[in-house]
Amino acid sequence: MCGIVGYVGRAEAAQILLEGLRRLEYRGYDSAGVAVVDGGNLETRKCAGRIVALARLTKKRPLSGCFGISHTRWATHGKVTDENAHPHFDASGKLALVHNGVIENYQLLKEDLVRNGDTKFRSETDTEVLAHLIGKLYDESCASTVDVYQKKARLLGAVRAALQKVIGTYGIALVHANVPDFMIGARRGSPLVLGVGKGENFLASDVSAIVAYTRDAVYLNDFDVVSVERDKFEIASLGGESGDHPVSKVEFTAEDIKKGDFRHYMLKEIFEQPDTVRDAMRGRLSVEECTAKLGGLNMTPAQLRDVGRIILTGCGTALHAGRIGEYLIERLANIPTEVEYASEFRHRNTPMTPETLVFAISQSGETADTLGALRESRRKGFRTLGICNNVASTIARESDGGVYMHAGPEIGVAATKSFTSQLVILTLIGLLFGRMRNLSTAEGSRIIEALEALPEQIEEVLKLSDQIKAIAKKYADVNGVLFFGRQFNFPIALEGALKMKEITYLFAEGHPSAELKHGIIALVRPDLPSVFIVPDDAVFSKNLNNIEQVKARKGPIISLTSGNGAKQLKEIANEIISLPDAPDCVMPILTVIPLQLLAYHLAVELGRDIDKPRNLAKSVTVE
Ligand code: M6R
Repeated sequence: MCGIVGYVGRAEAAQILLEGLRRLEYRGYDSAGVAVVDGGNLETRKCAGRIVALARLTKKRPLSGCFGISHTRWATHGKVTDENAHPHFDASGKLALVHNGVIENYQLLKEDLVRNGDTKFRSETDTEVLAHLIGKLYDESCASTVDVYQKKARLLGAVRAALQKVIGTYGIALVHANVPDFMIGARRGSPLVLGVGKGENFLASDVSAIVAYTRDAVYLNDFDVVSVERDKFEIASLGGESGDHPVSKVEFTAEDIKKGDFRHYMLKEIFEQPDTVRDAMRGRLSVEECTAKLGGLNMTPAQLRDVGRIILTGCGTALHAGRIGEYLIERLANIPTEVEYASEFRHRNTPMTPETLVFAISQSGETADTLGALRESRRKGFRTLGICNNVASTIARESDGGVYMHAGPEIGVAATKSFTSQLVILTLIGLLFGRMRNLSTAEGSRIIEALEALPEQIEEVLKLSDQIKAIAKKYADVNGVLFFGRQFNFPIALEGALKMKEITYLFAEGHPSAELKHGIIALVRPDLPSVFIVPDDAVFSKNLNNIEQVKARKGPIISLTSGNGAKQLKEIANEIISLPDAPDCVMPILTVIPLQLLAYHLAVELGRDIDKPRNLAKSVTVE
């Protein structure tokens, strides 16, 4: 949540900072700001609203200068107002700071500042307290200094001293009007990356903000503090140790993060799924041995065989993938598997036997709750593996190994392609563990064939987009949507409902089909359609009974089916979406796509802001 960008170089900073913010807008979009220094003058523009409002403001009142910082906000402390937008300033107004995270002890720090001087606060944010604290420490240490080298060292010292007092999380970038061509960044719990250019350097919450300028990046670790100039940078930990900070090549290019011909990122990402599903399994299938090869797990065959229990943890869509993973791993490998909300798991005392293996599932690899769960399980000494898309993310770096999704950047706030990639990877994990135990070669081959068929089958499903659009138009004035499925498709009902809520703002719930009669049926009425995910599988006839129960109460029925399902649904369902067939454990990778499209088309029909839905942010780096 919140995105920060910083620049020191020879070009006009404002344009680069604004462009960077546009790339980070998915991280938060309730207000934005930019501060640029020119010849000892610090100038700022900031306002509530989207980056486009800030761009208008800076067009009206342009900013000039070759170094500065910027921010797009997802409010935590303080309302969405111009005053609460970042950057925030110290008492002198010469130091500007942007922040992503939460300063938990800001009240105490604020009381101290007020007690010890006449500090006036202009905003309600926790961030402003940190700006004042650094500014005060700097002013005290710098009173008699004119030498620019000493100023830099003292500003750095003030940042270090202030951060020693902070409890909470931060990714920060700051500049000072009196310290030319110099920027400081630091992180703890919120991501921060240094972009290394030629005669220019950058700071950003995410490389997508700077990849148009450089693909050389240094991913900072927690407690790193970096001082950045045009032609050099220096990184040391808060404790003063220098450590190892390799420069890595960013995997994707600026082209990969463009919308292309698509109207929205979400639609682009839905349509990328034939490729992303292929990429998730590329080089990971062994046809000869009827198994999967997942070297990134960093486990020997004996260690793989000794796993006695698996915990899958994550949030939101990633958690739904975990729920399918539970069915998958138990079916294919017969290993007891539990799914835990990351936010609950990290604080509760889940009984864990010594042979437990934990998977943290996260597209961004930065979700605070999932990271907290990973750290807690590692602290207890359990092997903890990541299933991440962002290869440089904190979860990817802090886990004992894992499997990358290779889905490319996902910009739409509603997760789509990352979900199907997670499902492919969880199938591979089930296959690998299964083949280390009792899964036969015939069963292993059947799963591999089903996986290999997926990209083409997804192409087929995507061709249904127009049919689904027509359904969305027809149901555009409903009051909500219910989703039902059984077994592997129960989590798909949850995911369908989550997509619907996120981008249409309609009330939506997902349930196991059979739960209908235990209470939910009371909701059924003509303006509340039920989406039934009922492929032609072993539980089809049970599902049919539930559909009849809704029909009898005049609830409209939208069905997703396969094989002979359509024939049997003809007289009962109002809408039938026919999908290609696949083994039940792989089917969710196909059934979820029409639900992504349904939510998308309905949201378009309702005029929603698809890629930046109300109140949400893509990467949730606060608890
Ligand atoms: O980056 P992560 O996969 O850890 O994100 C987890 C959730 O915040 C995320 O899936 C969220 O629920 C999405 N907006 C769902 O579309």
